[in-house]
Amino acid sequence: MKRVLLGISGGIAAYKSAELVRLLRKNDYEVRVVMTHAATQFITPLTLQALSGHAVHTQLLDANEENAMGHINLARWADLFLIAPASANCMAKLSLGLADDLLSTLYLAAECPVYIAPAMNQAMWNKPVTQENLNRLKQHKVNVIGPEAGSQACGEVGYGRMTEPSDVLAQLKTLNAPQLLLNKKILISAGPTREALDPVRYITNRSSGKMGYALAQQAQLLGAEVTLVSGPVQLTAPNNTHILHVESAAEMYAVILQQVAGQDIFISAAAVADYTPDNVQTEKIKKQGNNTQLSLCKTQDIVASVANLTNKPFTVGFAAETHNLEQYALDKLQRKNLDMIAANWVGHAEGGFDSAYNALQVYWQNGQKTFTMTDKTQLASQLLTLIAERLDA
Ligand code: PMT
Repeated sequence: MKRVLLGISGGIAAYKSAELVRLLRKNDYEVRVVMTHAATQFITPLTLQALSGHAVHTQLLDANEENAMGHINLARWADLFLIAPASANCMAKLSLGLADDLLSTLYLAAECPVYIAPAMNQAMWNKPVTQENLNRLKQHKVNVIGPEAGSQACGEVGYGRMTEPSDVLAQLKTLNAPQLLLNKKILISAGPTREALDPVRYITNRSSGKMGYALAQQAQLLGAEVTLVSGPVQLTAPNNTHILHVESAAEMYAVILQQVAGQDIFISAAAVADYTPDNVQTEKIKKQGNNTQLSLCKTQDIVASVANLTNKPFTVGFAAETHNLEQYALDKLQRKNLDMIAANWVGHAEGGFDSAYNALQVYWQNGQKTFTMTDKTQLASQLLTLIAERLDA
């Protein structure tokens, strides 16, 4: 669990810090809050105490705090120091090394990475002296998140709005993620396929694409160059992902085999149809009689085809099972010649298809690991960390 020291300086954007604390904790960060005197005029320490679960620090010289957690201890405790919002005055003080309150003293005492999310009136932001302070802070290796352009609390329009808490968190994660897959090229398939019966009907399955898209997003955070081949889903591709949309198993096969050269890793998270109609009717099939039959033929096995290439990437399959999870997964691992298989239960109340949550039982030659039920983003990060380890092994 990462420890975030959150500094709040005085400005109307201080109200956003409450949401930031909530999001940080939801994402497994431990949070301690430091407020300037001005910040306490905008939002009460009690609110931040309730949200962070810890007393809020406001005084540089406080006999009680020196006994409990003085500024040096607080600076040592932190894995990262985030100041959000950082007002123009706060930036000016930090850039000059002034230390006349707890927040600015902590900045000098902190040896961990420092991030600031500036927030101020657009004219104050554009003032040359603020820009000089900003540049000086950047030279001192302070990471700057935002600000954004838009309408401001003062009624003006321009740069100076504090970045929204969810985006601050996303940037914090990107800037902090261990680059376990740096310079690795990774190809991921996601979602279902649609096998057309006629111009208006198709056979498909319940895959939402959430698992594959979470893998793409997390692989990016770990430094990988990601290509995502997606069946039809209702999701937005993660930023900076090379995305290719396909519909049928045959299209997915063609695109993946075209993209696979030069890839270090292939993860087949798509729920590819095993069978497809023999013939796609050119006209809508008419209703007739009480029963009807479909004639289906086998699709090509994409993951097995990749795993049997001469210069194959590290190939990871999934196994979606309603029973005999381990037995079927191990069989697929061998039969398809995979380097790893991630098995999940489907058709149960929790996890699997469409859910935001999932659990995985992962197998490879002479090894296995269990990832218990968690949200797919977290699970994707756990699986990718394991893949990075196995890749190096
Ligand atoms: O998309 P979500 O709603 O988030 O759900 C996630 C998921 C349950 C779809 C995902 O976690 C998952 O299990 N994906 C694989 C589903 C599947 O098709 O499993 P399977 O056991 O039928 O296939 C085994 C492996 O062979 C899979 O890696 C599959 O991608 C691959 N395959 C299957 C058929 C085929 N013609 N070509 C293939 O490459």
